[in-house]
Amino acid sequence: HFDGHAQVWVFGYGSLIYKADFPYLERRAARIDGWTRRFWQGSHDHRGTPEAPGRVVTLVAQAGAVCLGMAYLVTPEVFAHLDHREKNGYLRHRVALDFGDGHGADGLVYIADPANAAYLGPAPEADIARHIASAHGPSGPNRDYLLRLADALRALGADDPHVFTIERHLRALDADTVAHAAGPEGGLH
Ligand code: BEZ
Repeated sequence: HFDGHAQVWVFGYGSLIYKADFPYLERRAARIDGWTRRFWQGSHDHRGTPEAPGRVVTLVAQAGAVCLGMAYLVTPEVFAHLDHREKNGYLRHRVALDFGDGHGADGLVYIADPANAAYLGPAPEADIARHIASAHGPSGPNRDYLLRLADALRALGADDPHVFTIERHLRALDADTVAHAAGPEGGLH
């Protein structure tokens, strides 16, 4: 049993934007103020391994920043499940959600801060793209995570120079790989 007050809004800014493999009561695009998305968290369990971690997003506090994402209204049972699943280096924070139509709500968001063991921190976006191009984990290639997130952010109309710059570098790496495979004469070796 749950009543209206027990339902929880969870704000997704990473894979939760494009992949909700849990039941929800409502799903709404939302923004939170004062946070910006960064590929600064290591992934040992989904998009990499403990020996070769992938890179996934976390949020970094930044005055004046806005982060666009997807909010899900879930029951306490679903929330408990999510809370367990997302623990790996991420801690729960309270945030004010803005639905952009004059309405808002209190919500929860999972953030991995520099104190967690998997944290990787900042690196040049070109280096992050190379890192992502080489990482694979149980959930699949790290590149799929980046490309799906970039597509989902475009669909939301989000302005996210960090993510789109990494995406551009990754696609440039792809183009290089194709050019090398084709060889100088353009034929496959
Ligand atoms: C997110 O999409 O918001 C998210 C996904 C996994 C862990 C933490 C956050």
